[in-house]
Amino acid sequence: MDQVVHIHASQDGSTHLFAAAVVMAAVLAYLTWFWGLTRDLSGPRVWPLFGSLPGLICNRKRIHDWIADNLRSTGAAATYQTCILPLPFFARRQGFVTVTCNPRNLEHVLRTRFDNYPKGPMWQSAFHDLLGQGIFNSDGDTWLLQRKTAALEFTTRTLRQAMARWTNRSIKTRLWRILAQNCDKAGHGAGVDLQDLLLRLTFDNICGLTFGKDPETLSPDLPDNPFASAFDAATEATLQRFLYPSFLWRLKKALGLGTEKSLKSSLEVVDRYMTDAITARKENPSDDLLSRFIKKKDGSQNAFPTSVLQWIALNFVLAGRDTSSVALSWFFWTVMQRPDVESKVVGEVAAVLRETRGEDTSKWVEEPLTFDELERLVYLKAALAETLRLYPSVPEDSKYVVADDVLPDGTAVPAGSAITYSIYSVGRMETIWGEDCMEFKPERWLSPEGDRFQPARDAYRFVAFNAGPRTCLGKDLAYLQMKSIASAVLLRHRLELVPGHKVQQKMSLTLFMKNGLRVYVRPRDLDSTEHCCSSSSPNLKAAATTLIDAAGAA
Ligand code: HEM
Repeated sequence: MDQVVHIHASQDGSTHLFAAAVVMAAVLAYLTWFWGLTRDLSGPRVWPLFGSLPGLICNRKRIHDWIADNLRSTGAAATYQTCILPLPFFARRQGFVTVTCNPRNLEHVLRTRFDNYPKGPMWQSAFHDLLGQGIFNSDGDTWLLQRKTAALEFTTRTLRQAMARWTNRSIKTRLWRILAQNCDKAGHGAGVDLQDLLLRLTFDNICGLTFGKDPETLSPDLPDNPFASAFDAATEATLQRFLYPSFLWRLKKALGLGTEKSLKSSLEVVDRYMTDAITARKENPSDDLLSRFIKKKDGSQNAFPTSVLQWIALNFVLAGRDTSSVALSWFFWTVMQRPDVESKVVGEVAAVLRETRGEDTSKWVEEPLTFDELERLVYLKAALAETLRLYPSVPEDSKYVVADDVLPDGTAVPAGSAITYSIYSVGRMETIWGEDCMEFKPERWLSPEGDRFQPARDAYRFVAFNAGPRTCLGKDLAYLQMKSIASAVLLRHRLELVPGHKVQQKMSLTLFMKNGLRVYVRPRDLDSTEHCCSSSSPNLKAAATTLIDAAGAA
């Protein structure tokens, strides 16, 4: 009996030993494989099993600055590779990410080998319920047809005039009134959340421009609008899908759980609103984008069906809704800290209005600036471009790699992996923008005489509006809208940040301010404005030349 127990014990012992040896061998094999995988990676530390996730979590409140730091540490290459899922079969495909802000790599991805870098299946499937196969969410021929059709419309003067009309109407009838109501409410209290007002205003504008109906979410009592709330909730729920492996949100969708359940009900509200809008436009066409698409034909010379028109319209709303308001929030925040920039902006607006409306300053604030007056604001445009260089509304963007490729800097990218191009980092690299890259200097964007706006010589050094065949279609409209709102606010008011209000970036696909932008609104005394900067006056030229000389000397 003792002998039997002994034999069993020794058999158990050897089984355990064998199991331990197998585990050890597996761990060793994994670690050897892991070492092989990570030895050439240049980015942040990659951990066994967890990949770069620990670094990402530790830096979750400063993701964009963390990415910029990582890129800076690679020197002129401005590129690194990392693995978010270090498991065999995934590690070199879905789990592998190349992060870059090197202008030559950006040009390669966004233009030279455009076909090899589409948005890709993960992006498209996550956004499909909200955006269908609209311009923002499609690749290949589906994208190309919409792009060509839309590009024709975006070059027309009538569309720019329509944007100016929608924007000026909401400034005059609502924004100015709300600011006046909140003006000089002593130096205490919570002030107004300027970002919230701007988000409402640009949402109203883009709905007006897209389907000819202004939902008036910007009103003195700041109402909740079912369409706006449902659209917000649907966008938020869609973004949640990027946080999990795709099988998880698909399962939640099939079972109708959590955010997937609320996404379904939000989409129903959006769907009803859009169906009504499309019916209204079919019966009563106007100069909005939807009416223009209703008149067009698809690739087979048929009219676009209602479902496709709905996608098209929603894609424009998503593309154009928050981007300008977020940029304006960062612009106003900068202006509050830089009285020199503020006085030049106001001086330039005043100089243009003196020429077009005369000396009586009450005439300057009767109406927002006209299209032609806005065209002359070159310093303001430069200040907005400078804002977007440092605070791009879309801070990071991503593409899918179709086939193995080598980037111009020699980085090999495997098929099935992703490329994140950090728009936020491009503007903050000494190797790209020079030693003063972190300084806010609108003069970078002006001709030596200071009378012309000069776009970046290399389009891939400034990609806030993307670049290549998928460049933002709304860029000119966005500048027009932002100039109109910025001049209208600063002409009537001075702004002061509410003491103690913390301006922080929200970690999202759009660079929102996490806590909004709380400001006190003060009246502006235009009669005491120093008119230093007329776009055509020798004063501005002299001031600009001095500044540029000073910058050069520094
Ligand atoms: C400051 C304001 C804006 C910024 C910074 C901006 C930026 C961008 C960026 C980065 C993209 C590329 C997105 C991607 O492919 O992943 C884009 C695309 C696009 N934008 Fe804008 N945008 C702005 C305003 C607007 C406005 C006002 C409109 C419409 C009226 C608009 C319409 C579009 C469209 C239609 C696309 C898709 C182009 C395509 O895929 O072919 N954008 N924009």
